[in-house]
Amino acid sequence: MAAALFVGFLCFVQQAQAQSDQLKKLMLANNCMACHMIDKRKYGPQFDEISSKYMADKKAIETLVTKIKAGGKGVWGEDPMPPQPQVSDADAKTIAELIMVLKPKE
Ligand code: HEC
Repeated sequence: MAAALFVGFLCFVQQAQAQSDQLKKLMLANNCMACHMIDKRKYGPQFDEISSKYMADKKAIETLVTKIKAGGKGVWGEDPMPPQPQVSDADAKTIAELIMVLKPKE
């Protein structure tokens, strides 16, 4: 029983690690790193705070996919995010999903 719990915990940690690695790869490939980091504020909001902000929002994924592709401003401050037309629909959706499974910031 204890061993099973421990193995379960390890899988959970490994999965979280794999997810954040995949998110970083997509951020690099789509040039998000110029303005964003996962756990530190850069020009744009940090991704774990975005996760906390939309935690209770059932439409979070759609909202974020739209924003990633179209850009916008006024949610986090006056700095605008330019549109990112280079991001494929599939990548935008995966990025939004990976943001929303980030451990929210305490
Ligand atoms: C030129 C800088 C810049 C680049 C490049 C950029 N962003 Fe942003 N991003 C911002 C800024 C600034 C904001 C805050 C906008 C606001 O307050 O509404 C933001 C906001 C966001 C948000 C939160 C949206 C919301 O409405 O809460 C997400 C998600 C996001 N960016 C994802 C991405 C992804 C994914 C990429 C790469 C494809 C990317 N950004 C590239 C500057 C950038």
